Amino acid sequence: MGEPMLQVRDLHAYYGKSHILQGVTFDVGEGEIVSLLGRNGVGRSTTIKAIMGDVPPSGSIRFKGREIVGLKPHQVARLGLGYVPENRDIFPGLTVRQNLLLGQKSTRHKGRWSVEDLFEVFPRLKERADTPGGVLSGGEQQMLTICRTLMGDPDLIMIDEPTEGLSPMMVELVGKLLAEIAERGVSILLVEQKLTIALRISHRLYVMGHGHIVFEGTPAALNADAAVRKEWLEV
Ligand SMILES: Nc1ncnc2c1ncn2[C@@H]1O[C@H](COP(=O)(O)OP(=O)(O)O)[C@@H](O)[C@H]1O
Ligand SMILES: [Mg+2]
Repeated sequence: MGEPMLQVRDLHAYYGKSHILQGVTFDVGEGEIVSLLGRNGVGRSTTIKAIMGDVPPSGSIRFKGREIVGLKPHQVARLGLGYVPENRDIFPGLTVRQNLLLGQKSTRHKGRWSVEDLFEVFPRLKERADTPGGVLSGGEQQMLTICRTLMGDPDLIMIDEPTEGLSPMMVELVGKLLAEIAERGVSILLVEQKLTIALRISHRLYVMGHGHIVFEGTPAALNADAAVRKEWLEV
């Protein structure tokens, strides 16, 4: 086996003088769904912002064999790293289809995903194709944000708390969409607080404590480890 698609080693990041990430180390392999779990405020969002270059990182971040520490967010994105932030920042005045087309990096190259593919995977968006994005429900906007990022044809997509505030039915749909994305060979780093879909769809999981990783293992291992769940996850 070669180098993992994403290799994060001893990552540190600060907000002013606050030392937020204190040596975070993990990997995401090709085609893998990996979850980064933890309570609010432990540094999960900061970790993906540091990988994107939105927050200045120190340490090593290798993506597809290349060191990306020091690159700007648009350069990281161009290498094939997709990022879906917590806030569902769609363009409310544009239709669903227009929102999707804005996610394309180039109209010349055909990526893995077309608008029609995404409509097939998510018929609900198809029904809404000509509806302004702002009219969609929270869950539909979440789907749209993920799908728009896929239009940029990432090799790995990092998704920050996609199920936050969604109904159980929409959580199911998001889970299905993520599984479908991975089946097409796109790696996923899923940030979550709840175990619901993470345990079901992940190949491996990491739990974060205050600024570092406190557990790494399979869903079965985390399921069996009541002590870790109690200390680091249960609210
Ligand atoms: N822009 C910021 N400025 C200062 N502190 C921040 C900022 N964003 C997050 N923090 C702090 O950094 C810590 C980690 O936050 P975050 O990475 O958002 O955690 P999580 O995503 O795991 O909930 C928290 O203590 C939070 O208050
Ligand atoms: Mg967060």
